Amino acid sequence: MIHPIKWEKGTLFLLDQRRLPHKLQWFRASGYKGVIYAIKNLVVRGAPAIGLAAAFGMVLAFRSLRKRDPKTLLLKLKKIAEEFLRARPTAVNLRWAVLEMTKVGETSIGDGLTPEDCLKALESRALSLLEEDIRVNKAIGDFGAELIRDGSTILTHCNAGALATGGYGTALGVIRSAHLQGKRIRVLVDETRPWLQGHRLTAWELTQEGIEHYVIVDSAAGYFMAKGEVDMVVTGADRIAKNGDTANKIGTYSLAVLARENHVPFYIAAPTSTIDLTIPSGREIQVEVRSEEEVLLLEKKRIGPKGTKALNPVFDITPARLITGIITELGIATAPFERGIAELFSAHHRKNLGTGPKI
Ligand code: MRU
Repeated sequence: MIHPIKWEKGTLFLLDQRRLPHKLQWFRASGYKGVIYAIKNLVVRGAPAIGLAAAFGMVLAFRSLRKRDPKTLLLKLKKIAEEFLRARPTAVNLRWAVLEMTKVGETSIGDGLTPEDCLKALESRALSLLEEDIRVNKAIGDFGAELIRDGSTILTHCNAGALATGGYGTALGVIRSAHLQGKRIRVLVDETRPWLQGHRLTAWELTQEGIEHYVIVDSAAGYFMAKGEVDMVVTGADRIAKNGDTANKIGTYSLAVLARENHVPFYIAAPTSTIDLTIPSGREIQVEVRSEEEVLLLEKKRIGPKGTKALNPVFDITPARLITGIITELGIATAPFERGIAELFSAHHRKNLGTGPKI
């Protein structure tokens, strides 16, 4: 299985996604600034993966702090947490992971642990987040695979696979689980302009798994749906509002509209850490806008005339009404999503006698 994030003897290694699929190259981050660079420049990408990278980044940051008095240590850690939060604004997993790490810092400093023991506590939480993420993805995969019939064609967008997470993947985890159950499936992979996460990364993962797949240009999705050749669409998510509105890679909204028009079920697969219960709807989600060069250049060569400008919002918001279901590690939420999501959380909460996520 692909593991894009490795922690070895206090150094963070990230499988460099700018180089895939042609080069398997590891980006080495020995300081937290390197991790921020990696997140901003898409060395590591995908909502859960950037959260995990930031968690290890917080360990590196704490290790580099010179001040020893507890108050200053905590203040500095919180400042660094803010730097991480600014690296990419849309994926809520980044905030989730950074807050988890800040809490650990706060508790261990508050408990009077030595800086060395605080560092150990932070390192152990980052490692447990990584392990948890893989477990959670497998659970998402197993719930989602139940929805897939033998012989289905599934369309996916961007890369919500092992590369976008600690391992296994969310939307691609669903496909992986169905494949492991012996179901014969065919995957249509949106190439995902402009950064080509679908063509470069999802196709690479599916090749490793030996799953039949075809890359299509993003604008071909409607053609295949209208011909009755798509049984299901499944994508990942960067942030899901309380009402189920979902931010994901640009083009997801168009896919959902096409799916509705063609009576194709449209699913989102994401861990509950992607659900942001602090915002009532997708209107509150900040959409990241990246450099126009990502659109204007292909392999560093300009495609159009000099002087032409581009707009590059890299996420869009799919309204909950277009979503058939949200597949999480706790089960599948359906409409009305506000209730569906709350029910998943409270069932989990009851089962774990109060240790689950709070709403
Ligand atoms: O810009 P990216 O490549 O980080 O965008 C990634 C996506 O939109 C994914 O679909 C999402 O983060 C879910 S990854 C499990």
